[in-house]
Amino acid sequence: MLTLDGKVAIITGAAMGMGKSTAELFAELGAKVVVADYNEEEGNKVVDSIKKDGGEAAFVKVDVSNEEQVKHMVQFTVDTYGKLDVAVNNAAITPDDKPVAEMDMEYYDKLMAVDLKGVILCMKYELQQMEKDGTKGSIINTSSVSGIRPQPGTPAYIAAKHAVIGVTKSAAMDYSPKGIRVNSVAPGAIDTPMLRGALDQFGFDPEEYAKQLSMLNRFAQAEEVAQANAWLASDLSSYVTGTVMNVDGGYTS
Ligand code: NAI
Repeated sequence: MLTLDGKVAIITGAAMGMGKSTAELFAELGAKVVVADYNEEEGNKVVDSIKKDGGEAAFVKVDVSNEEQVKHMVQFTVDTYGKLDVAVNNAAITPDDKPVAEMDMEYYDKLMAVDLKGVILCMKYELQQMEKDGTKGSIINTSSVSGIRPQPGTPAYIAAKHAVIGVTKSAAMDYSPKGIRVNSVAPGAIDTPMLRGALDQFGFDPEEYAKQLSMLNRFAQAEEVAQANAWLASDLSSYVTGTVMNVDGGYTS
């Protein structure tokens, strides 16, 4: 049976979208959850709603691109719940990406700082903690179908999401001797504030876009990605590491 009973999990970007759904599902499955986000107001709402439903959760404010704050996020987790078993490194942004010849390098730096460096920084301190405690933990890094197959006009995001898969495989190899598993989830078109914002920005019709991006002719709900995160976080996936799980309605098949 899928359970996260007794596990302590950090989920970054958990104030909204897939991170929020993942935090809620993990708590429902018995995990103690650290909701990590730079959006304090929405993050605290997630914590309140988890507690209202009988789960355990705490909020920590973090900008995942800031090393000191990431270090504090992991320390806060250990101070609050005593250990760290699972981390879902999910926070990301989609700034105003443009084709390479028009790329604004300030945007590039901003995106890379969150979407790639943020994932690496989180892994750095999560892995240090797991190694120190001898925890056979599970880390899940959120990539994207953009990390597998290109989408028009988003080269910086595509580069970051490809690199997330690369660094996931690298960490899986380096930490497998310690029994720590590192995997990636590559969501397709998931109905979240980020996707709605991107569709508006590029002027795409949501219904048409969903048909192009999924054999199932629809967007996924954030809960459907949360289920994949939960399986990878759980002991049911004990022989799975270094892999990418596509939750994309068949788009990359
Ligand atoms: P969202 O925009 O709905 O939520 C992202 C969360 O991350 C927000 O709560 C935001 O406050 C937080 N965040 C952003 N920058 C942060 C930072 N520097 N430090 C801490 N928190 C920060 O996003 P969504 O759609 O739920 O996406 C989650 C993940 O899934 C991202 O990694 C995204 O790239 C990926 N993804 C999303 C797809 C979609 O269709 N929505 C498709 C493929 C991948």
